[in-house]
Amino acid sequence: MSQRRAAITALGTHVPERVVTNADLEKIVDTTDEWIRTRTGIQKRHVVEPGTATSAIGALAAQDALRRRGIGAEEVDLIVVATVTPDMLFPATACLIQDRIGAKKAWGFDVSAACSGFVYALSVGAQFVETGRHRKVLVVGADVMTSIIDYQDRSTCVLFGDAAGAVLLEPREDGTGILDFAHEVDGSGAGYLNMPGGGSLHPATHETVDKRMHYIKQQGQHVFKYAVRKFADTSEQILLRNDFTGTDVDLFVAHQANIRIIEAAQHRMGLPDSKVVKNIHEYGNTTAATIPLALKTALDQKRVEKGHLVLVAAVGAGFTVGSVLLRWSGVSWD
Ligand SMILES: CC(C)(COP(=O)(O)OP(=O)(O)OC[C@H]1O[C@@H](n2cnc3c(N)ncnc32)[C@H](O)[C@@H]1OP(=O)(O)O)[C@@H](O)C(=O)NCCC(=O)NCCS
Repeated sequence: MSQRRAAITALGTHVPERVVTNADLEKIVDTTDEWIRTRTGIQKRHVVEPGTATSAIGALAAQDALRRRGIGAEEVDLIVVATVTPDMLFPATACLIQDRIGAKKAWGFDVSAACSGFVYALSVGAQFVETGRHRKVLVVGADVMTSIIDYQDRSTCVLFGDAAGAVLLEPREDGTGILDFAHEVDGSGAGYLNMPGGGSLHPATHETVDKRMHYIKQQGQHVFKYAVRKFADTSEQILLRNDFTGTDVDLFVAHQANIRIIEAAQHRMGLPDSKVVKNIHEYGNTTAATIPLALKTALDQKRVEKGHLVLVAAVGAGFTVGSVLLRWSGVSWD
């Protein structure tokens, strides 16, 4: 019997129906479909109806995962939610999702790591399964990015969409599951991508509203360069220390922030298109939801099967950097 590992045994997602195309954005800000497609790879993004909270879409993704696994919410031990758009500063969105889905015996908390949030939450949840303390951990990545997007800022409003994804982690002793993770943060990058208003440093005032401080601020080029370097560095590092190279990877599941960032890492690892998931054209950057949405795309396209070596990687505000290496365990998918 091999060592006990935390394995993804179910996946669920929720993508809002409403679509905003690049042509729609052309009517709001000074941009073009051509600029957005060539600079980012994005063609459209899905957005929630106004007033829809992150806990609402997170709960739908969690319920989808549980339904596919064929178990009830009362079996869940722990809920870890990655988000930068919590319903409110407190209580944690994990509590609100716990209540919405009726996970009566679960405890939970939120992880704030922006675009690396899902990868961090996955690693955190995995620890409780590996130690044997819990048998069923729900990891949810959900963001309503439209709640913090400034539709007067063309450099950020074209990038993001809303969505949620969830995975169930359970113990496996058949060689599948999470093999390793490699995470790092560099807080000196905090000024390049953030939402300055609403926290203890700049509590909400008329002035913070007037200065549009409750929206995403980004110095795109700086983030871009950092992401290109770190995506590839961390991916290489985690492969090397597990005695793998790019050729061993069956599927590269990257955070979907910009097609050019994904392709730079792809080329550095020498991966063919068939091994790289790209769905940014459909959803944009959905922050904590991109990784589960990319897993959904891989499953829909039948590109991942039991035993495959899967490399997951993300870079986000913080800066945060994360990668997870796993042997796919198989989930029921119809
Ligand atoms: C945001 C991003 C797409 C911008 O692409 P870029 O090639 O770096 O573009 P720049 O920011 O240098 O801007 C180039 C020009 O396009 C303009 N521009 C910016 N947004 C535009 C838009 N939506 N439409 C048209 N022009 C735009 C800029 O004003 C600038 O014009 P100027 O040269 O006259 O000053 C890119 O930097 C990026 O993807 N960064 C990383 C984002 C990211 O990953 N964020 C999340 C972290 S996970």
